[in-house]
Amino acid sequence: MKVNRKWIAALVIGAMVFGAGCSSSTEETSTESAAQTQEETTEEAAEEEVQEEVAENDTTSEEVAAENVTLEEGMLIMSTNATFPPYEYYDGDTIVGIDADVAAAIADKMGLTLQINDMEFDSALAAVQTGQADMVMAGVTVTPEREENMDFTNSYATGVQVVIVPEDSDITSIDDLQGKLIGVQQGTTGDIYCSDTPENGGYGEENVQKFSSGPLAVEALKNGQVDCVVIDNEPAKAYVEANPGLKILDTEFAVEDYAIGVAKGNDALLDALNNALEELESDGTLDKIIGEYIHE
Ligand code: ARG
Repeated sequence: MKVNRKWIAALVIGAMVFGAGCSSSTEETSTESAAQTQEETTEEAAEEEVQEEVAENDTTSEEVAAENVTLEEGMLIMSTNATFPPYEYYDGDTIVGIDADVAAAIADKMGLTLQINDMEFDSALAAVQTGQADMVMAGVTVTPEREENMDFTNSYATGVQVVIVPEDSDITSIDDLQGKLIGVQQGTTGDIYCSDTPENGGYGEENVQKFSSGPLAVEALKNGQVDCVVIDNEPAKAYVEANPGLKILDTEFAVEDYAIGVAKGNDALLDALNNALEELESDGTLDKIIGEYIHE
């Protein structure tokens, strides 16, 4: 019941934010549209809550909306897998990176406190579907299959699947991958593409070894347990930099869009995130954050 009320409140506020955005006189419009909405819906308690909040609070409509769309009041819980520099990784005990910083900026815009929960990549995706996290930010590629199970914001970055090999490898292009043992991070698009059947452009499950993280796959490559690693380009650069004797092949496997994933149907949160992202994009914050971690 509580959840229901929160949801309805969020939707009502969503409508009000929209209404206010279309008008120059925000105070009046908010009151009007709230009054109208009250007549139209049955959950009166929810609307009272909304009106009170709008009347009493100094916060922006966006902040009010945000408070009502997350799992825990006042919090924005993000799931991730912090083995993926420069998007998310540990600096001492702290998770840093593009995703961590963008998430912090989003939470700030929404008036929420960010909490980052680190887990395996598969689990980070599942967490938004099972209601353990509000959003997953983990350099997550938008794919049609994932879109069946969760909703995605607009894209905030691009990734490219690349191939890491030892410097003296006889693999010189993706055409040489046939019959080789390919290391991937479990559940990633690199895993999905490579594990697919040859008819679908993959190399077959039997040629793919799955690791719980990119660094573990790279470790196996160094030890000669796999012949190459297929993974996203930016982490690949970081791994190669940290591990002399490896290189990235010049061929690109697939170009992908990264976005924030939320539970399917959580439109209020999705809208709030998209609004925040849009602001971060237009005020230059997004570029600034990316520029701090990626130096072309
Ligand atoms: N972009 C790839 C995918 O979505 C890999 C993401 C892995 N992310 C991570 N934080 N380990 O499947």
